[in-house]
Amino acid sequence: MSIHSRILGTGSYLPPETVSNDDLAARLARDGIETSDAWIVERTGIRQRHFAGPGVGSVDLGEHAARRALQDAGLQAQDIDLIIVATSTPDMIFPSNAALIQGRLGCPGGAVFDVQAVCAGFIYALSVADQFVRSGSVRHALVIGTEVFSQILDFSDRATCVLFGDGAGAVVLGPGERGGVLSSALHGDGRQASILCTPGRIEGGKVSGRPFLHMDGQAVFKQAVHVLEGVAREVLDKAGRTAADVDWMVPHQANIRIMLHTAKKLGIAAERVVQTVAWHGNTSAASIPLALDTAVRAGQVRRGQTLLLEAVGGGLTWGAALLEF
Ligand code: ACO
Repeated sequence: MSIHSRILGTGSYLPPETVSNDDLAARLARDGIETSDAWIVERTGIRQRHFAGPGVGSVDLGEHAARRALQDAGLQAQDIDLIIVATSTPDMIFPSNAALIQGRLGCPGGAVFDVQAVCAGFIYALSVADQFVRSGSVRHALVIGTEVFSQILDFSDRATCVLFGDGAGAVVLGPGERGGVLSSALHGDGRQASILCTPGRIEGGKVSGRPFLHMDGQAVFKQAVHVLEGVAREVLDKAGRTAADVDWMVPHQANIRIMLHTAKKLGIAAERVVQTVAWHGNTSAASIPLALDTAVRAGQVRRGQTLLLEAVGGGLTWGAALLEF
């Protein structure tokens, strides 16, 4: 019988400090930059975000989320033989966040690596882990999305600094006889790297370039709604399903307009879209597992339901996965 990879447990973690739109507006006003709760809510749906604060990195957040996912799955860290972390804000240039988290969890031996596909990173990581579990080459995989985007925000650019937050989410994948990941699809278009990027690097021990998030918001918006519909239809077709079979869409929480616009094009009602962007902001690779865990713990998403996950991010990168939870 063929192996299916199922989500055995979910977990997430948000740093305790919440920053409301009003808090952020007051902070920007000190530098003479104007914004308002009304503007941010209307254009993005975001009401608050969490910031990790000095000294707290994406490994810290990811470790918490991973421990919660393991507990939910009823497994020990020693049961894990693959860790993939999706992040664009790792603690170090190397080793990977996956290695650092494995060290914290104290479960040496399995494969560890990071995936860098920005906001589509969790879909990429999930799809890769799915191949390992389905082929039988690993039994249990931890797939983690974790970010501290607050560290790469330019607080003099009001068009981007209001959008992002910090957080982490994780799932444990393991073998099952049916259901689980039904299909996935990944894509990229490197010609569009410049519309969403953080163009900095280390040269001779110094940062060169501008290590702050840069975005052409309107270009990203246009691309996002175009590619997300296509890739969502692709995974539905691959699995022989239609949008009517989807119990919950769990989109990357980029902004409410992109999320609901895509759902509408697919014919999925807003009530069937998991929405956490208001409270978390855009947490990049962390946003899907964070939204999924939030919806599971709230009793919205239940076992046996069909979930459509989709995301687009810098690169451009985009992807989707259809799964029976
Ligand atoms: N507060 C008040 N005014 C603002 C703010 C702000 N925070 N940010 C921009 N403005 C102003 C601009 O200066 C501009 O003023 P002007 O007309 O006087 O020049 C006006 O608002 C309109 O600016 P635009 O950039 O054209 O605003 P737009 O309507 O495009 O909204 C937004 C910006 C929300 C970023 C939009 O482009 C968008 O949703 N883009 C999608 C990209 C996205 O969501 N990215 C998330 C990260 S990427 C990802 O996860 C895939």
